[in-house]
Amino acid sequence: IHTPSLKELDISFNTIVGVNNLGVIDFIHKNYNPDHHNNMSPVQFFIKNRHFDFIDYSQEPTKFFVPGFIDTHIHASQFPNIGIGLDCPLLDWLNNYTFPLENEFTNSNSTDSKLKFAKDIYSQVIEKTLNNGTTCASYFTTIDPQTTNLFAELLLRFGQRGFVGKVCMDHNETYADYSETFEECIDSMNAIINHLHNLNPQDEILVKPIITPRFAPVCTRDLLFFLGQLSKSHNLPIQTHISENEKEIELVHDLFPDCEDYASVYNKHNLLGESTILAHAIHLTKKERKIIKQKNCSISHCPTSNTFISSGEAPIKKYLYEDEINVSLGTDVSGGFDSSILAIIKHCILVSHHLAMKTKNQKDKLSINDALFMATQGGAQAVGMADQIGTFELGKKFDVQLIDLKSEDSNVDVFDWQLPFKEHHTSIENHKSLSKDEQSKKMFDLLGKWIFSGDDRNCVKVWCNGRLVVNKVRYNHDDRW
Ligand code: GUN
Ligand code: FE
Repeated sequence: IHTPSLKELDISFNTIVGVNNLGVIDFIHKNYNPDHHNNMSPVQFFIKNRHFDFIDYSQEPTKFFVPGFIDTHIHASQFPNIGIGLDCPLLDWLNNYTFPLENEFTNSNSTDSKLKFAKDIYSQVIEKTLNNGTTCASYFTTIDPQTTNLFAELLLRFGQRGFVGKVCMDHNETYADYSETFEECIDSMNAIINHLHNLNPQDEILVKPIITPRFAPVCTRDLLFFLGQLSKSHNLPIQTHISENEKEIELVHDLFPDCEDYASVYNKHNLLGESTILAHAIHLTKKERKIIKQKNCSISHCPTSNTFISSGEAPIKKYLYEDEINVSLGTDVSGGFDSSILAIIKHCILVSHHLAMKTKNQKDKLSINDALFMATQGGAQAVGMADQIGTFELGKKFDVQLIDLKSEDSNVDVFDWQLPFKEHHTSIENHKSLSKDEQSKKMFDLLGKWIFSGDDRNCVKVWCNGRLVVNKVRYNHDDRW
């Protein structure tokens, strides 16, 4: 099940996906007839003289493959603060909860204890997000370079694809303890870029730096200019926050009176481009939406965070369909309290329904297709990998989750009458009475059950770059995978 484009949800039955030893999808064959399975291996049929492992879920409609989720906005360092800070709007929330926690990554008494502190937290974040099916994420760490390098190493160890953003902020007026000088920021960025350059295995780029001015209010103009140039000279993507909270927007107007609006601040410093991810983007003006589209930036929609710290309801349907801006999803831990993109899918739909009730415009409602697209292919486009991950297509990397609606302790109720065809290896021939459309309709119902009542327990296996990185199946005849 995947979303090749915004309006397209593709559900394929009896389909073989072949993956080579570089983790790349090598062949896709639709409408494979399982009755041939016993006398002729379909794999032999396609490619001779090569060794293959073969696994067949075609008779088990409660198991299906979806692309790995892509979280385009998450603060790895804020993981311990999940669930904390409901009482504050953004700027107070930052001062009271977020800056003090992030500062602990810089202020520990010794390098050893700092690294241990970071390793504990960062390992948990990566493990937790992988277990929830996130195969790629765009992360914020803290201002600290050493622990940021450690984070990149942990990503490689766990096997998750990641963009690593050391937070850049040389102008913190409200919480001066947690800040860096312009020179310190340059040195740290150079150290991280060099370190990560040598880290990836041959022929694979799993971790990559991403230029991360935290948000305009905590950056000097010199720093914004420098980061814009750094992105160009090293061909690196950019991520930041924009237009999340009304007080924040006023602050930007006060600090940058020469710029017409928030987006113009970033544009003036050469920070808007096709590899820029703008998180939140709740209160954009028409003019800002236009420039964001013109520059081909992506938005990372963070509905859980926007609700938790009561920042607002972003009109995502308009961004997608009127402005044709690429929108992806972000957990925004710990503004967001859930590190699962499946949870963000639920929340983005609920938030859009609330928006539609407020505006009395049904068109503001997001669909399952919209949400699944933003969680996968929209995310792939946001991180500049639209041709490499996000869907099942020839030549793409096998970054995939296996969903099992009947996994151990599953919260999903699946009743037999809802299944497209019976289980236990009954031949599909016996169920010819269901047309392809009927099968798809029933599969779509199962998709709804997964999205609204499923969770990490249903994400039973995860592959990243063709490598099995999560396996919750205890024992099974197919365990050689
Ligand atoms: N704006 C600037 N920094 C942050 C942050 O850490 N989280 C959120 N949600 N918004 C921000
Ligand atoms: Fe954020």
